[in-house]
Amino acid sequence: MCGIVGYIGHRPAYPILIKGLHRLEYRGYDSAGVALMTPEGKLNIYKTRGKVEDLERFCESKDVTGTLGIAHTRWATHGEPNDINAHPHYSASGKIALVHNGTIENYNVLKEALEMHGCTFKSETDTEVLVQLIEYIKESTGCTLVDAVREALKEVVGAYAIAVIDTENPDTVIGARKSSPLVIGVGDGETFLASDATPIVEFTDKVVYLNDDEIAIIRRGEPLQIITTDNVPGEVDIKTLKMSVEQLEKGGYPHFMLKEIFEQPRTIHDCIRGRIGNTGSEVTLSGVIEHKDKFMNARRMIIVACGTSWHAGLIGKRLIQEIARIPVEVEYASEFRYSNPILDERDIVIAISQSGETADTLAAIQMARKCGAFVYGVCNVVGSSIARATDSGTYIHVGPEIGVASTKAFTGQVTVLTMFALALGTLRGTIDRETAAKVTGALRNLPALIKQTLKLNDTIEKLSSTYTYVHNFLYLGRGYNYPSALEGALKLKEISYIHAEGYPAAEMKHGPIALIDREMPTVVIAPNDGMHEKIVSNIQQVKARGGSVIAVVTKGDTTIAEIADHILEIPEVPDIISPIIVSIPLQLLAYHVAIKKGCNVDMPRNLAKSVTVE
Ligand code: M6R
Repeated sequence: MCGIVGYIGHRPAYPILIKGLHRLEYRGYDSAGVALMTPEGKLNIYKTRGKVEDLERFCESKDVTGTLGIAHTRWATHGEPNDINAHPHYSASGKIALVHNGTIENYNVLKEALEMHGCTFKSETDTEVLVQLIEYIKESTGCTLVDAVREALKEVVGAYAIAVIDTENPDTVIGARKSSPLVIGVGDGETFLASDATPIVEFTDKVVYLNDDEIAIIRRGEPLQIITTDNVPGEVDIKTLKMSVEQLEKGGYPHFMLKEIFEQPRTIHDCIRGRIGNTGSEVTLSGVIEHKDKFMNARRMIIVACGTSWHAGLIGKRLIQEIARIPVEVEYASEFRYSNPILDERDIVIAISQSGETADTLAAIQMARKCGAFVYGVCNVVGSSIARATDSGTYIHVGPEIGVASTKAFTGQVTVLTMFALALGTLRGTIDRETAAKVTGALRNLPALIKQTLKLNDTIEKLSSTYTYVHNFLYLGRGYNYPSALEGALKLKEISYIHAEGYPAAEMKHGPIALIDREMPTVVIAPNDGMHEKIVSNIQQVKARGGSVIAVVTKGDTTIAEIADHILEIPEVPDIISPIIVSIPLQLLAYHVAIKKGCNVDMPRNLAKSVTVE
């Protein structure tokens, strides 16, 4: 939630900051702002409700000079999205400006204390409290800016990634983090700071991931310095980014979401590369091999995740139970963290997160580790907070996912969970070589099968016109594809704003069937598996009540073709990998319906890609 970016160097800061905000806009897009230090040492702050493009228009006739600045794109938590609540926020004197990602939980207490000292507030945000507190400490004690930031952060309860500038220190940018991400880009005579590496990668591949409770002191012409909030020197651990600028562009597609859907043959190839050989049944996951004993002796596994990652977790549960015969529970991270769970060192917690920054998932990990459980992570973003908070893990390696609706990350997560289940099954001797070879063979074929399935795009585009003005959708699936139904419904609702519900197909008769009429289409996921006959009955039940049916079926399924209104044919695949293949038409359906409705699929209303607040 919220993206922050900062720059200090020899180039004009404004274009770098704006471009950086565009890259971070997936994190929030209800208002945006920038603070620039002019060559004369004056602070110019421009901010407005709306997207980054609105900020650019707002700045057209403004003085945007300066080689030092900070900027922000917001996802509102405290205070509605308007010009005043937009960041950067500034101190009473107007000398200090600050951008913030996170939530300051004790802001009311701090605010009351500052008001007693005569401070007045312009905005309704928690962030303004922090910038006022920094100035209050600096003015009342006469300390340096760094010490004022440090002392202020010690008073704060909550999560933050911040960047601070001050007219009295016109060649300094200060960054700090706790539970919200902050990456420093180390260039040649210039330094960048951002919520993730995407605004940095085109300028330098050298980055430092700030740790919790660390403060980065970036002074023009001086090496980066890191200290902790307790004033202990920190390590400047420079890492090399493995990310390219091309991965961050739309590459000729109208939207990131469509690009990411079509990228899946390649992303799945990248995900399995080096982990499954060209032949044989062996799966090599270093995150498992290095902790062999833990995985051999695990009593049970608990998967924690949110949203789409949680749906991947439901599929993971079936895979692990089926292949490795270990009991698995799946929990929403937000519920798990407050459920006082019974956990100890015999349990393995699996945290799944595309961004690696989801606040609830991170909190669940911290709690699990406190209880002694071993934590295994399945993340996409390399170096993210969750990736660093786990004991071991496997990256899905699908490249940056920018569309807010998760697509390629979902298929990457399910692919990793399939490999994980296979690795465990082999280790524990619960799967025979022949069956393992069948599954690894199917995984090897995935890129080609996805490519074939993507040919449905034109059919789905045409079909979507029929359903543009529908208000409700039902998604049904069974077995491995019950979670696919949940995921299909989530995709549709988050980008088209059409209400959609996913259900296990057999549960329909226990309630949702009452909703079926001519106005309520049902998407039925009905590949040729052990449940086929039963799902045919479910389709008939819908048809008997006047509902229309879009069925995702295995190529050549004449039975369903005769009764459904529309069929979307996928290639014949083993049950175990079918959720990956069926997700392709469901992603495309959501995309085309949303486009026909005129929705902004990459930046749906009220959402943000990375949910770093509770
Ligand atoms: O980054 P994470 O995987 O932890 O994010 C979890 C959810 O916020 C995310 O999957 C969300 O549900 C997506 N918008 C779904 O498309």
